[in-house]
Amino acid sequence: MSDTVYEIIYRSHISEDMDRDAISDLMTKSILNNAASGITGCLLICDRCFFQILEGTEKKVKSLFNKIKDDHRHEGVDLISESTRFRLFDNWGMAFAADTPEELKKLIKSESLDQDDLDAIRTQTVRLIEA
Ligand SMILES: Cc1cc2nc3c(=O)[nH]c(=O)nc-3n(C[C@H](O)[C@H](O)[C@H](O)COP(=O)(O)O)c2cc1C
Repeated sequence: MSDTVYEIIYRSHISEDMDRDAISDLMTKSILNNAASGITGCLLICDRCFFQILEGTEKKVKSLFNKIKDDHRHEGVDLISESTRFRLFDNWGMAFAADTPEELKKLIKSESLDQDDLDAIRTQTVRLIEA
């Protein structure tokens, strides 16, 4: 059953020194940490960009996002949305997709995103993760 959570969505540019192994290490640590703090979500790679949705209690999500913002493994962190919603990724500490479809990539990289775009991104992301 879905519960109500605080959700943060952001995108960023992947630092030059991040290779596949480094991303894999980041995911392993994130999954462990998130399981311990009840945070769920997903991390997508769109060419050299990260796109992440974080869900959990407001306190924990904001505290994690503050750490993430200062992380040298990416730059240009762009907060896209903050809201209280139903949890989308119940079964995922941190779902990961390196192979983001073109249509979703285009949406994620749009200059400006309205609520309809965000809903489309959420729907397509869940579909991608659950495929
Ligand atoms: C793109 C990106 C996504 C991240 N996602 C998470 C995450 O979901 N959970 C997490 O614990 N750390 C995440 N991190 C790492 C945090 O910035 C930070 O290094 C980590 O939370 C520190 O954990 P520690 O206090 O246990 O050492 C992410 C970092 C980057 C660059």
